[in-house]
Amino acid sequence: MFQSPASRIDAKLAVVFQSLGLPAHLARVQPSDRPELGDLQCNGALGGARDLRRAPRLIAEDIASCLRGDPAFASVEVAGPGFVNLRLSTDFLAACAADMAADDRLGIADEGRGRLVILDFGGPNVAKPLHVGHLRSLVLGESLRRIHAALGWRTHADAHLGDWGLQMGMLSAAIRHRAPELAYFQPASGQPYPANPPVTLQELERLYPEAAAACRADPERMAEARSDTAALQAGDPGLLALWHALRALSLEAQVADFRELGIVFDALDGESDVRDAIAPLVERLLASGVARQSDGALVVDVAEPDDCHDVPPLLLAKSDGAALYATTDLATLEARAAMSGLARVVYVVDQRQALHFAQVFRAAGKAGIAPGVELLHAGFGTVNGRDGKPFKTRDGGVAKLTDLLDEAVERAAARIDESGHGAGLDDAGRRSLARQVGIGAVKFADLSGDRLSGYVFDADRLVAFEGRTGPYLQYACVRLRSLLDKAAGFASGPVVPVLDEERDLLLSCLGFAGAVSEAGRELQPGILAEYAFGVAQRFSRFYAACAVIGEPDPTVRASRLGLCVLTRRVLETSLDLLGMDVPPRM
Ligand code: ARG
Repeated sequence: MFQSPASRIDAKLAVVFQSLGLPAHLARVQPSDRPELGDLQCNGALGGARDLRRAPRLIAEDIASCLRGDPAFASVEVAGPGFVNLRLSTDFLAACAADMAADDRLGIADEGRGRLVILDFGGPNVAKPLHVGHLRSLVLGESLRRIHAALGWRTHADAHLGDWGLQMGMLSAAIRHRAPELAYFQPASGQPYPANPPVTLQELERLYPEAAAACRADPERMAEARSDTAALQAGDPGLLALWHALRALSLEAQVADFRELGIVFDALDGESDVRDAIAPLVERLLASGVARQSDGALVVDVAEPDDCHDVPPLLLAKSDGAALYATTDLATLEARAAMSGLARVVYVVDQRQALHFAQVFRAAGKAGIAPGVELLHAGFGTVNGRDGKPFKTRDGGVAKLTDLLDEAVERAAARIDESGHGAGLDDAGRRSLARQVGIGAVKFADLSGDRLSGYVFDADRLVAFEGRTGPYLQYACVRLRSLLDKAAGFASGPVVPVLDEERDLLLSCLGFAGAVSEAGRELQPGILAEYAFGVAQRFSRFYAACAVIGEPDPTVRASRLGLCVLTRRVLETSLDLLGMDVPPRM
């Protein structure tokens, strides 16, 4: 079984620390802050000094003398106030490489053990085209799904469509104003409802902002929208038929956008799917005392004594009885909790909804909904324009997701032509390469860094082939592929790193499983993106310094080929977990 170098060394340290009477939790190594002094360092002597009442430098000397002589190390040195610097031996690294190469999972731990995780992401509202705000939820959510699957979880991706709220009433009111004669609005006329939706997709996408603006400007229109929403939720057959038609129309377009991003949901359930569960849930919460009346509304108190911010009560029902966002989320969670083996739900939603999720999670706890299920909000910052403010189109409107992707693909196509990367491809080949590069570039930019911070969408920068970009990573994969294709006649063999560039590359490959675990634990695909970028950089350095096919010594050549095979597996798996394509050539 593969174990990373760091965890093997941790195990050795644990023995040493115990023999010296040092606390076990300090027996840890980390990558060295100063790689010129070692591969790994252990700072445990500093933490143990108080307990042992000895100078940390002396404790470090003791640790070092226990470790010296172990064949895992080429050198063990004490530095500064009590750091132990460890340089790993070639034999040890070669043994780690052999174990990793022999493992189908590249050492990734089976942390999920078949438990079920639901990933709630995407979350588009019916009648609104996917816009820039959905990009991060989709890209982060899909990557988190893949990372969980790699870690042994069963995954269930659910878009949780916003299909049951006020926007539906706004739309029906707007359509009634344009065409009051439609059968949807003729109660009990006996007329059949139209077979086709009353608007085209393009009209629907224009209609929604108009309808919302009309409601904002005109209180009477707003009242109409509210009463339509209430009638729809109460089961008015005409409004329900209209709702079905509009929902299907917009969902078809949204699914096409998901597909463009390589995302297939296991379920496209929506708020409407739990509509019948809401009234009984509200009643139960009231009866059990979890909810209380407040000014005609029903609320659940969710503040806790040690809150440092005010956490207002969750609004469960308003006086008009309309379904609310938080209530729908509670009812949805209750329905999900019935899925067998459910252990975790991850909501990949804009950080501006952090309070909403805090309220929902606490209310679920009080109400005994989904007990024992880990509820996590993986929030994220906004996609910004070059001015640092949330991204807008040139005329100041909300940017549609497809427009954003098209722009990146267009820039990628231009880059490919300028740089000669597309040489020899026919038109269709160039187009498909530009798609893979453009969309890969957007995904990488979206995933790298801390998800909580926003990032600047600068199509030109993110499609560059140099620097911290998706295309740089893709290009490393393509080079590896073509190198290994050309080397098909040569045997690869055990990896025995000799030169610094080989060691560095191997060491970074050996960190793969750790990076996947950490990305999963922190719900941060950015950790994996950053890791993969580091591997690609070290591969470039290795490839510049070391001959592979041209290496005359067959043992060295076999080792370098083995290292390339491992690097390729690590990079391709990383890209796959980030949801990025590897183009066949570049
Ligand atoms: N439809 C919501 C919105 O547009 C996002 C849904 C997120 N998921 C959830 N379970 N609340 O803001």
